[in-house]
Amino acid sequence: MTAQPSQSQHQSSPEHSLTRAALAGKRILLTGTTGFLGKVILEKLIREVPDLGGLVLLIRGNRKYPCAKARFHAEVATSSVFDHLRETDPARLSAFLDNRLQCVGGEITQHRFGLEDEAYEALAQSVDVIINSAASVNFREALDTAITINAMCLHNLADFAEDAGQVPVIQISTCYVNGYNRGNIAEKVSAPTSGLIPRDANGHFAVESTLVTLRHKCNDLKRRIQDPEALAEALTELGQHEAHRYGWGDTYTFTKWLGEQILLNRLKGKTLTIVRPSVIESCLQGPKPGWIEGVKVTDAILLAYARGKVSLFPGRKAGVVDIIPADLVANATILSVAEALLEPGHSRIYQSCSGTQNPLIVRDYVPTICGEVKDNWQKYPRLTRKGPRKNMKLVNKHLFVALIQVLRGVFTVTDRLRLRTAGNKSKTLEAVETTLKLTKIYSTYTSPTYVFSSDRLMALAARMGEVDKSLFPVDAALIDWKEYFTEIHVAGLNQYGLEDRKVPTPSPAETTTVSEEVADTTPA
Ligand SMILES: NC(=O)c1ccc[n+]([C@@H]2O[C@H](COP(=O)([O-])OP(=O)(O)OC[C@H]3O[C@@H](n4cnc5c(N)ncnc54)[C@H](OP(=O)(O)O)[C@@H]3O)[C@@H](O)[C@H]2O)c1
Repeated sequence: MTAQPSQSQHQSSPEHSLTRAALAGKRILLTGTTGFLGKVILEKLIREVPDLGGLVLLIRGNRKYPCAKARFHAEVATSSVFDHLRETDPARLSAFLDNRLQCVGGEITQHRFGLEDEAYEALAQSVDVIINSAASVNFREALDTAITINAMCLHNLADFAEDAGQVPVIQISTCYVNGYNRGNIAEKVSAPTSGLIPRDANGHFAVESTLVTLRHKCNDLKRRIQDPEALAEALTELGQHEAHRYGWGDTYTFTKWLGEQILLNRLKGKTLTIVRPSVIESCLQGPKPGWIEGVKVTDAILLAYARGKVSLFPGRKAGVVDIIPADLVANATILSVAEALLEPGHSRIYQSCSGTQNPLIVRDYVPTICGEVKDNWQKYPRLTRKGPRKNMKLVNKHLFVALIQVLRGVFTVTDRLRLRTAGNKSKTLEAVETTLKLTKIYSTYTSPTYVFSSDRLMALAARMGEVDKSLFPVDAALIDWKEYFTEIHVAGLNQYGLEDRKVPTPSPAETTTVSEEVADTTPA
């Protein structure tokens, strides 16, 4: 289904950027800029696409900043993501923010983004392309919420693309829509391993009836359970249960897959590019090496390790853990925008990942990153005050479950005694409970049985030419993993990830973003 555009008519000259030329004068609607990846895309567009027509940011108000513009200035414009531009070209940054950036207060999950007719129509007439980075990245989100933001809202986006004159849509998805599929995962539609979702006459997965069934199940719980806390827990468990039943490890990846299908069905024959990153980590090069926001998936485990909460984790040592720096994902997104504008009328899927280009093996990754924290913990004061004492051990999943259950049993008995005498839990029991909690959320990601391929993205980069390869690099082969972890990523996590967290996450231990405090006190 992925088109292979012949870009011969757009061949770039040695010093000409095809991407900059394609984006010149264009206005992009960008969602998700109060989040991590959205900020990296925003900064890169401002920094490297000088003739961009403009950016329209769809931002929802929050309690503190009901107005989108006020929220942008308080939460986005002040971010350290712009430090590089502030230091090197402050005039250009402020000129762009003043003259070419518009904030629109809208809620993507609502019909016409909840805008008045006039505002909606003005918005539709003012954009040439859409990048959707908004999502709930909570792996264990309540099912109804996850369906709304990761799947159903894509109908609003498809409607908007049509109202705007069939403008291209670039949807940020995730490589992990592969669910329980194993082996080499290509840049194409993933079929659910359960076989429970049929295809329609056009070969598309018929997800509408699945969504109706899922929503019935959510509504049934809402009718039966009055207590809000119990209902939230039940909706979370329902999400996990349904995800497993259909062929995914968690609600997040299941609902992101459903979102992909909605767009592929709605935008058939139109212009759609799905960009699937793997686990996004700190920037390799820019805006600053190591720039990151919050504590992401595998870093949640690292943080718990750094603070002595975890020293044993289930992992498949021979597996390929897939990590990709955020700037390479932003570049893949920007190349996709350019291609969609140059060659409209196709559906494309690209994976922004490292799996085939520069495989990172679990057995190499864990000692490198954990060793850096253990050996040089004094360099990372926000990460840890005392440094971990033990090495991180990886064990096979089945052995891990047996070990941890035994440990938990033993310590629960001694803990009861301790509670009676000292009035608190032992540190070891806390560590066991933290490990179990992190395992429940993240062990799929540390025990990979699949390798993500990015052949098509590499082919796109080749077609865009040498200038764009250096302005917007996407190839994970650029990464020296040892250098990345020991000189860039852990330092970035310490400097940016544990500092610049302005938006509190609702239930941090269960999201891809974990707060500093939680890693210290992850409760049982
Ligand atoms: N982080 C990763 O490792 C990773 C890996 C693969 C793919 N991805 C994908 O990359 C994209 C960005 O992820 P991220 O890490 O940047 O996530 P993030 O930091 O949590 O940001 C999520 C963004 O989505 C917005 N959003 C959430 N619910 C919304 C709603 N109902 N209406 C409007 N906006 C809403 C948030 O706005 P508010 O601030 O208003 O909540 C925020 O701007 C997502 O599509 C995600 O699936 C991420």
